[in-house]
Amino acid sequence: MAELEVRDLTVEFDSGGYKVRPLDRLCLDAEDGELVVVLGPSGCGKTTLLSCLSGLLSPTAGSIMFRGTDVTGLTGAALGRYRRSTVGVVFQAFNLIASLTARENVIAPLRLAKVPRHQAAARADELLAEVGLADRAGHRPGKMSGGQQQRVAIARALVHDPPLVVADEPTAHLDHIQVEGVLMLIRKLAAPGRLVLVSTHDDRITHIADRVIELVPHFTGADRDPEELLLDRGQILFAQGDRGDLVYVVEEGKVEVYRTRADGTEEFLALIAPGNYLGELGPLLNLPRSASARARTACRLTSYPLRAFRQHFPVDRSASALGTVARERAGTP
Ligand SMILES: Nc1ncnc2c1ncn2[C@@H]1O[C@H](COP(=O)(O)OP(=O)(O)OP(=O)(O)O)[C@@H](O)[C@H]1O
Ligand SMILES: [Mg+2]
Repeated sequence: MAELEVRDLTVEFDSGGYKVRPLDRLCLDAEDGELVVVLGPSGCGKTTLLSCLSGLLSPTAGSIMFRGTDVTGLTGAALGRYRRSTVGVVFQAFNLIASLTARENVIAPLRLAKVPRHQAAARADELLAEVGLADRAGHRPGKMSGGQQQRVAIARALVHDPPLVVADEPTAHLDHIQVEGVLMLIRKLAAPGRLVLVSTHDDRITHIADRVIELVPHFTGADRDPEELLLDRGQILFAQGDRGDLVYVVEEGKVEVYRTRADGTEEFLALIAPGNYLGELGPLLNLPRSASARARTACRLTSYPLRAFRQHFPVDRSASALGTVARERAGTP
């Protein structure tokens, strides 16, 4: 059994009355001592995944086993212990208390855990030295660079020597010189006895990883030829939340585009007639489909991989945010 086993992790949110599912049956394994990089663009579910791993968010379905404990099954005092001692969390925005010095920020969680003052101060100094900030212990966050603040936040996440550290885009607000220091520190943290997961949208970070988890699949076969597709009446072409790299041109019949609301009801958006296309924005913007499409009648379509689609149809700068609304056909395939 791997140290960390995530199985079929699914999280659904109600976002503005619509259902979004940033995590859909995600599986991953990671071993002790590894640095795992969770990679993906904005909105793909990185924070959602790390929140589940930290015990801050309860998933809709699936399980997280860490060192043989089912994290998703923890409640009450056991969940409190897991959050406090098993997992250390580093946030993108540091979340330091502005009125406290670096040392006091690191001491705070130790005092909350009733560690005596002297012992807490000694531990804070030890950790600040470990992250290279021994000489900054008396400074407040406002007097420190972003990289230094992030290192204080890392020291704070380590106070209970947690075997799991999760860092959510820890380099997002840093310039490249600061990024280097923070990344080297994070690389060093992943050592026997500690597993580290870092989320990022910056694929340069993958070079220091032992394992990379891509939350958004990379589509292969971008050079495939367009293909003919026949649908029966009522057949689903694609569903809201799906990832897909194909754009469809309706040749015969009609396709309806609709959204599913959080309460399960459907909202009709558009009827796509022959000569129009649909499904272009999801692949173009590398986002999940924002609506579903279903054959209103028996249909004949042509499916285009994104690259072939762009050759046939120039990008429409006024494209709607829906990702699925028909555009006038701009060329002949
Ligand atoms: N509490 C919530 N309620 C409703 N929707 C949410 C909630 N949290 C996240 N979402 C939605 O879930 C999706 C994934 O969000 P998440 O914050 O995990 O993405 P991310 O990969 O961390 O993005 P970023 O790189 O911008 O931080 C987004 O569509 C977001 O709007
Ligand atoms: Mg995020």
